[in-house]
Amino acid sequence: MDHPVWDVGVGYGLWMALFGVVHVFVSHFAVGGGLVLVLAERRARRTGDAAALAHVRRLSGFFAPTTLVVGALTGVGIWFIIGLLNPSATGVLIRTFVWAWAVEWTFFAVEILAAILYAKGWDRLPPRAHEALGWVYFVAAWLSLVVINGIVTFMWTPGAWTTTGSFWDGFLNPTYAPSLVLRTAISLLLAGLFGAAVAARAPDAEARRRLVRGHAVVGAVGLLASLAAFLWYRAALPADLLAAVGERLTIPARALDAFHATSVVLGAALLLFLALPRAARRPVTVAALAVGLVWFGSFEWWREGARKPWAVAGVVYGNGVHADHPAAAAKTGHLAPDGLSTGDRGRDLWLSQCRACHTLDGYNPVLPAFAGTDETFAAGVLAGLHTMRGKMPPFSGVEAERKALAAWLVARADRTPLPERARRSGEDLGALVYAQRCGRCHVDGGWNDKRKSFEGLEEADVRDAIESISFDEMPAFSGTTEERDALARHLLRRAGGGGAK
Ligand code: HEC
Ligand code: HEC
Repeated sequence: MDHPVWDVGVGYGLWMALFGVVHVFVSHFAVGGGLVLVLAERRARRTGDAAALAHVRRLSGFFAPTTLVVGALTGVGIWFIIGLLNPSATGVLIRTFVWAWAVEWTFFAVEILAAILYAKGWDRLPPRAHEALGWVYFVAAWLSLVVINGIVTFMWTPGAWTTTGSFWDGFLNPTYAPSLVLRTAISLLLAGLFGAAVAARAPDAEARRRLVRGHAVVGAVGLLASLAAFLWYRAALPADLLAAVGERLTIPARALDAFHATSVVLGAALLLFLALPRAARRPVTVAALAVGLVWFGSFEWWREGARKPWAVAGVVYGNGVHADHPAAAAKTGHLAPDGLSTGDRGRDLWLSQCRACHTLDGYNPVLPAFAGTDETFAAGVLAGLHTMRGKMPPFSGVEAERKALAAWLVARADRTPLPERARRSGEDLGALVYAQRCGRCHVDGGWNDKRKSFEGLEEADVRDAIESISFDEMPAFSGTTEERDALARHLLRRAGGGGAK
């Protein structure tokens, strides 16, 4: 192992999602909110609209403390988690982008200062100076997005950087521009929705209608621009990673469905606010804001999931193994003799190759997949890890290491034989054997579906096939005869032909 692993039984992915989602919400709020604040203040002062000015003041009281406190804390949280989760990929990012981060933190510091002075300066500063501070706040917040966007998009589309290693090739990568437009538009939409929710509390009915409508215009512009930029962004993504999402991983695919559905709901809500601002009562506007967060969250969930198995596409895997390492490790071994070690090879392999994405039996657990199986099977599965549904990196190491990890995992899994488990739970044994020994690589009606292979065969032929099919990436059948026969019947039933009974 190149890095020590702090193994405390939590799912890093879950923490990352938690910090990440809150952090991106807040940081996009800061950008969109900044613009909405300065535009609304300017307009209110020009038209002498006291109600609108009071509204902007209420809004500013929220933005400053939230973006500062929550934004900064979750930002630090993200650094902690990525350092634990994937120190190698974090290293690649730091070595490539350290100055970009320095610049971003400078913008963040300016943003914080301007936000505090803006929120505190309503009664103390002349209007022009106050407006100017608002602009400083917005521009600094947006510039920090301009910088961070280069690093975030680099992870999916490092582009020419992989051959040149040049900062600008990595920074201004193929998805930089669409993502910047997309995120700016998302910021506007969120700010519009939030503004409408705050405006719904304005005491004067006439002002309330005016303010809701104004924010709905901002939101609608944000939504339309987001959807257009999303199509542009998706077109710039590598087709092979995108294609695998729908078939292999259910969660990102569902997240994309949720993104589409919530886009429609948001469009309807914004039209309602525009056409009938009176209907924008507090609960309705708060619900619209919540839908907006789900919409944005599902986009982020899809984006993160679809990038698997990579941390930086084509460069470092999600478990910190560099792209060219497995080929070399197949000859020389994964664990360097002088590397860090816990003294237990199986555990070292688990920590250095699986732990970033899995726990043993908590978040995204692996042990259930090996329950009732054996070491031969587990070693075979490891050889075909990258062909499984889960979009995983290939196993890295020599055969002896594969066997060591397999033995380590099977020793910790539930050893109850499948026939006993099936009897106890009243499950069909054939279906259970299929789930444990085939179903993680072959999904009915989905990823690598092989039902057709058994169509029209006799039961004896299926039994033979089960015994004989095996190659590098698929383990030979190593279950008992009872399990094999039950599996054969199950396969025939599913194939819909032959001698099913
Ligand atoms: C880049 C992240 C990542 C890495 C690294 C990784 N996995 Fe996975 N693994 C996944 C995902 C995602 C799934 C699918 C989870 C789902 O959708 O149910 C999965 C699924 C599995 C499954 C099937 C689980 C089930 O119940 O269907 C097994 C077994 C498994 N992984 C074992 C391993 C082992 C062993 C290693 C280390 C050698 C490893 N994985 C490394 C992401 C990863
Ligand atoms: C670790 C993953 C893995 C497991 C477990 C696995 N397979 Fe496969 N299987 C594969 C891969 C990869 C292929 C090749 C896919 C392709 O390119 O057609 C394959 C191919 C097949 C084929 C087509 C063979 C051919 O000659 O065309 C059949 C049939 C099949 N598997 C059945 C099964 C059955 C039944 C089980 C459970 C006993 C099983 N597989 C378990 C990965 C797996």
